[in-house]
Amino acid sequence: MTFLDVAVEAARRAGDLIREKAYQTKQVKQKTSASDLVTEVDQRSEEIIRDIILRHFPDHAILGEEGVAAGDKTVEEVWEESRQHEYVWIVDPIDGTSNFVHGFPFFCVSIALAKNGELITGVIYEPMRDELFTAEKGKGAYLNGQPIRVSGEETLAESLMATGFSYGQRRVQQQLRTLMRTAPRFRSLRNGGAAALHLAYIAAGRLTGYWELGLNPWDLAAGVLLVKEAGGEVTDTWGRPFDLTVRNTLATNGKVHREMVELLRESQADVT
Ligand code: IPD
Repeated sequence: MTFLDVAVEAARRAGDLIREKAYQTKQVKQKTSASDLVTEVDQRSEEIIRDIILRHFPDHAILGEEGVAAGDKTVEEVWEESRQHEYVWIVDPIDGTSNFVHGFPFFCVSIALAKNGELITGVIYEPMRDELFTAEKGKGAYLNGQPIRVSGEETLAESLMATGFSYGQRRVQQQLRTLMRTAPRFRSLRNGGAAALHLAYIAAGRLTGYWELGLNPWDLAAGVLLVKEAGGEVTDTWGRPFDLTVRNTLATNGKVHREMVELLRESQADVT
């Protein structure tokens, strides 16, 4: 089985569980705040994905959202440790956990593989619509097996943009400042509440772009590869190159990227 086959199998198996539980009552625990949640389904989903990956590739490292949350290490420490392995899988067992908790059907499984720090495989699976987004480095991006491309908008004035609010008051306030400056310039703005799906939707041409402050590698990894393979651009919110340590992220169809970077520059003087 190829890396992609294994990622797809893991995403579909986890997705089956998530779909089954989507409208049932969940056991919800708070992590860092009332907005940062985990359910037993997130944990079970991560176990399913881990088991499938390790059955095929026992010596690969796995950086998973709930594994990090459950331990006493920071994401930076875990990422540093996993970089000692040639292959690192980066897993979000449910991206959009708050949506999942409320039965708002916009959440997904996100699985990526990095080789020596470079993304080579990305899979995002949205169980409620049975949509499987896949990408391999240099081989394009696909939705349910059909090639996808980013959208053609050339200006922000004709763009459908998305954003999100990371946990923590400081981030929310910073993000509100960027919104005051940017939102009036777009055709319209969305917050679906699942970073990975926003990125998959850019790859599929359904959104023009998306930015958020304070993201984690598991929110981003698979979606970043999808956007790039579909012809889009991903940088930090200052326009600097993306790598997996970047938290403040901007992804677009490429055509509106410079205009958006310029606009963000004026509103994020205090963003780190
Ligand atoms: C969150 C979602 C949300 C975004 C947060 C993420 P999680 O991921 O992607 O849309 O605004 O920054 O942490 O916790 O649901 O996996």
